[in-house]
Amino acid sequence: MHDVSHAAPWSTGSWPAADKPTLYRDLAQELEALLAGESDATANAANAAAALYHALPALNWAGFYFLRGDELVLGPFQGKPACVRIPIGRGVCGTAARDRRSILVPDVDAFPGHIACDSASRSELVVPLLDGDRLLGVLDMDSPDLGRFDADDQSGCESLVAIVVRHLR
Ligand code: SME
Repeated sequence: MHDVSHAAPWSTGSWPAADKPTLYRDLAQELEALLAGESDATANAANAAAALYHALPALNWAGFYFLRGDELVLGPFQGKPACVRIPIGRGVCGTAARDRRSILVPDVDAFPGHIACDSASRSELVVPLLDGDRLLGVLDMDSPDLGRFDADDQSGCESLVAIVVRHLR
């Protein structure tokens, strides 16, 4: 079983002094170890949301929405209670799901149709969960800081999502 007691990235609460790609690679290894050996999708999504929320600085929300019929439904997350159902094509999450691509929003007020679940959120990154051609849902991360996410965060989170998807099957 994975030993969660040692100093995993989500125990430190801040970026160590290293470049972001290196940190995302380290986090990917830890996430893989955290999820390995468990086949319950809810447990793995819950632990992944907690790991990301505590490992990545300056977040006020991190979690999953899963595709249920023609809408996204709230899954495991960390942060304040959030809107439960998001139609495909609505908000940042619904747009990322419809277009099956990551969406990086430096300023949520500048994104037409942004759904404000927590008024503290200023920037957002949404990554679709794709298992081959099949859309499972999205990973959503919110920050209270404007411009919190950059291209390194996007590619780093896309590689983390690939790990999560393998452990949702
Ligand atoms: N802001 C999202 C809604 C989900 S919450 O941020 C948790 C959106 O516009 O889709």
